[in-house]
Amino acid sequence: TDLSAFIAGLPKAELHMHIEGSFEPELMYALAQRNNVAFAYDSVDALRAAYKFGNLQDFLDLYYQGMGVLLTEQDFYDLAMAYFRRAASQTVRHAEIMFDPQGHTDRGVKFQTMIDGLWRAKADAEQQFGMTIGMILCFLRHLDEASALRTLEEALPWRDRFIAVGLDSSEKGHPPSKFKNVFARARALGLKAVAHAGEEGPPDYVWEALDLLKVHRIDHGNRSLEDDALVARLVRDKMPLTVCPLSNLRLCVVDDMTQHPLRRMLRAGLVATVNSDDPAYFGGYVNENYNAVQQALDLSRDEIVALAENGFRAAFIDAAAQQRHI
Ligand code: ADE
Ligand code: ZN
Repeated sequence: TDLSAFIAGLPKAELHMHIEGSFEPELMYALAQRNNVAFAYDSVDALRAAYKFGNLQDFLDLYYQGMGVLLTEQDFYDLAMAYFRRAASQTVRHAEIMFDPQGHTDRGVKFQTMIDGLWRAKADAEQQFGMTIGMILCFLRHLDEASALRTLEEALPWRDRFIAVGLDSSEKGHPPSKFKNVFARARALGLKAVAHAGEEGPPDYVWEALDLLKVHRIDHGNRSLEDDALVARLVRDKMPLTVCPLSNLRLCVVDDMTQHPLRRMLRAGLVATVNSDDPAYFGGYVNENYNAVQQALDLSRDEIVALAENGFRAAFIDAAAQQRHI
């Protein structure tokens, strides 16, 4: 059955989307010109043609290169506003966007420049598009914990501008345990916590995210299905998984969309949600993700509704706001 029209009009939450991963080649090119920075590709098409990834690291190499074009407050504003406009057009009513401060401050951009641009876009989008928005400060796990701790301290003047901390970048070899102290500090500050786990890394990393980082959601979590005791724990705790179907396909986490674990997750009683991860790189925003997985797995209308409701249940919003959306 074709549910694309139903999906297009369904109110949705998006909880796993890296704002730097929504950087479309056209905008990247325009900002490179505006900022007079060299662009490694001859054209927008040449850049897009380079988006062929064998694994997570292949993608990350291009992702960090792409974000290097972002320099001014206006750049961050334009980037975020483009995503919010797109999300609103897909009936996303609530978005929690991730950002990677170390990807900017480590190349000389001021924390303030980045956060001010994102914050101004959030305010304008909430007003213009009638959506609600939260921001999640992510630590790059390929860097050390000291750098993450410095980043959190640097963010404190803007503590009220983000709702949670997250953990992203190269997973293998960088277990959650490496970031135990910075997550403890974030929790002490009243922040929520999320972490990428079980995307490429083993089920043990999901256990660590739960037990050591005490996260409120697992980003991806695909490999949890390899461990029955872990699945039981996730079900018991109603721990949301922010699943990203097109990302999984493009990063070869799954060989084929018909092999995607989303249906198995739902059948196991897991609180799975659908998200776009890095929509400019993986071939689609949230609706394209719902459509891809709906078609490949022949998900029913009820399953689509359950996924969308899970998004609002898993969001960092109060119960009254959840009820307004479900
Ligand atoms: N940063 C942006 N997207 C990511 C992903 N899917 N996994 C890890 N780090 C990321
Ligand atoms: Zn991600």
